[in-house]
Amino acid sequence: MTRSVTAPHVGIWMYENGGGREIEQRLVHALAERGIQTSTGLNLRDARAKDGQISCNGVVMEQLDAFLSYNAGQQTQFQVYLYQALSQAIPTLNNYDAFALAEDKFRTSHLLNSQGICTADYRLCHKNDMDGLKQALRDFGGKLIYKPTDGWGGVGIVKIDSEQALDMLLPFLSRTDLRYFYVERFIDYDNTDYRIDVVDGKFVGCYGRKAPKDDWKTNITSGGSVFVREPDDEVVELALRAASTLGLEIAGVDLIYDREREEYVVLEVNTIPAFATPEQEALGINFNQAKIDAMVELIERTATQHNALHTHKVA
Ligand SMILES: Nc1ncnc2c1ncn2[C@@H]1O[C@H](COP(=O)(O)OP(=O)(O)O)[C@@H](O)[C@H]1O
Ligand SMILES: [Mg+2]
Repeated sequence: MTRSVTAPHVGIWMYENGGGREIEQRLVHALAERGIQTSTGLNLRDARAKDGQISCNGVVMEQLDAFLSYNAGQQTQFQVYLYQALSQAIPTLNNYDAFALAEDKFRTSHLLNSQGICTADYRLCHKNDMDGLKQALRDFGGKLIYKPTDGWGGVGIVKIDSEQALDMLLPFLSRTDLRYFYVERFIDYDNTDYRIDVVDGKFVGCYGRKAPKDDWKTNITSGGSVFVREPDDEVVELALRAASTLGLEIAGVDLIYDREREEYVVLEVNTIPAFATPEQEALGINFNQAKIDAMVELIERTATQHNALHTHKVA
């Protein structure tokens, strides 16, 4: 009996805009240097599942040694469903369970809090529990934020700073197909945040974002701008703990400083944090290489392990 040893094979689906295409090339190149074969462009939108296999652009996904899913914003329910199914067969990055957990703002806050990691005070109320909502407003000192638990880019986030405002919003909210309300205390902060990139349990980079004038949302899509920012050890430590508590291999942890309580707070944990764009790199935000290096190491280890366990034996 001979054993045909094939090189580890990794599938990649990566965003292409904002310099993504170039980052992907650098990943592919670095992996090739380590003897790892890659197939790119594996958009699960193009996949078909049948007879126990998911095929995508001629690749049988289950035969891969790992799959890197790195395209935010374009994920349909179909894709996420296949991502989940695929993760039962091969290692995915991120692993699906951690991805799904971090995509849910309530479950994330709830878990982080239970592990003693500071987030904004939050509350989940049944959609008919108006008393609970009003109580939350009082408990949070008169200001709260309504957030869709699966939102992104600051979309759908509403600040409510009085009981009248809440009363005005309720008829609108009850018309939508909401199942529950997730609300957070509105944190008094300087309208800047920290984005800490974590790969494989290691800190790989930090930058700051600033909300536009007269706004408190730091999202780039809300008009926020990025700036070079050095984190202190406390911020980094908090970000590392948040990523590991959620079980994410790759994470972008957003934190702000609560001026009232004088402490750092984890706001959310992103599962597909973008690399610095060429424009951002020109501003001096220079973590891309460190992040690529850490990702290559992570992918290599993951795929090699899987490959060693599943080497095909042929008679
Ligand atoms: N509890 C809060 N208090 C004050 N500002 C907040 C709070 N939660 C979010 N924000 C602001 O709103 C932005 C978007 O919120 P976030 O939870 O990150 O959702 P998204 O997934 O839409 O980015 C944050 O970057 C921050 O600037
Ligand atoms: Mg955010």
